[in-house]
Amino acid sequence: MNVDGKHYRTIWIHPEHSGIIQIIDQTKLPFQFKVVNLDTLASAEAAIVDMQVRGAGLIGATAAFGMYLAAVHSDEKNFKTELIEAGKRLINTRPTAVNLEWAVQKQLMQISNCKSREACIETTLITAKAIAEEDADMCKSIGVHGARLIEKIHSEKNGDVVNVLTHCNAGWLAFVDYGSATAPIYQAHDSGIKVHVWVDETRPRNQGGRLTAWELSQHGVPHTVIPDNTGGHLMQHGLVDLVITGADRVTKTGDAANKVGTYLKALAAKDNKVPFYVALPSSTFDWDISDGAKEIPIEQRDGSEVRRMSGLYKNEEIEVMILPETSRVANYGFDVTPSRLISGLITEKGVCRANESEIRKLFN
Ligand code: MRU
Repeated sequence: MNVDGKHYRTIWIHPEHSGIIQIIDQTKLPFQFKVVNLDTLASAEAAIVDMQVRGAGLIGATAAFGMYLAAVHSDEKNFKTELIEAGKRLINTRPTAVNLEWAVQKQLMQISNCKSREACIETTLITAKAIAEEDADMCKSIGVHGARLIEKIHSEKNGDVVNVLTHCNAGWLAFVDYGSATAPIYQAHDSGIKVHVWVDETRPRNQGGRLTAWELSQHGVPHTVIPDNTGGHLMQHGLVDLVITGADRVTKTGDAANKVGTYLKALAAKDNKVPFYVALPSSTFDWDISDGAKEIPIEQRDGSEVRRMSGLYKNEEIEVMILPETSRVANYGFDVTPSRLISGLITEKGVCRANESEIRKLFN
């Protein structure tokens, strides 16, 4: 996607040093556009934990490159043992998005066939690049399939603006390129369909307000940032035609974990007969589980994210306390929307209903 007219992906290999991976530091957006170097396993781990990179697809790709960096610095004799350990460390960085484990397992499978450390460095680089390419390709296809839904509503509204509500950031910043929930929006917008996006600000880290709004601005897509609790009111008044969110893990039966607050949007959508779609690449399916609410691990993050907020003051980003210091806080990162509330899943292979047999028809 473009940043000030220049094309960027969210992760890439340093043009002059193959042992350095570059990322956009998302903790600084939208106030500062900063590119950061990752050159060790520890730096890749820290980037995921501190959320310099975030979003299901991107943490998967970062973990894949993290395995490559671990291979580069591994010991001639113990490289396999070290890389198995590196995989464990990366998987433990964030528990909910399954793409991370998926990418590490892909790397470990390749590593198991390596006869030497050199072969391992080469193969982990090839695999990481392939994972990143595949992620971008899948998101592009999600855009094509999802745009048809927007197009249909557009013609039902006789060419009037289609209002899409989204939660958190499932945009290109959450993947390698295009995004999942935003890909259909970009595709529709680029093909001349009038789209407007309601952007949930998404407390506590404000990924909607900080990241989705920034992305949409860069791409020229009309949007309005709303406090998280506004969606129900908008739906009651016919101001939302469609909800599209991303997902961090989807069960084989179609239950979807996404940023906390998504479930409430799905309930409001159901009550107001607003279609609610979840967009995801197939790397976000967890084929081993059926009951999302019981089986998907929900990350709990530090309370400081709830207690404090940061923003721009006199051109500098500062953090302020927003709660009584003694109050307890809870910070669940995600919630699970049961498949019965989901109108459909938008995947790289097409749109299907959120149930096991329809999902299986698309993905054998
Ligand atoms: O905690 P984050 O920012 O990594 O959460 C991920 C998200 O932005 C959302 O849950 C998103 O909708 C799904 S990731 C494609």
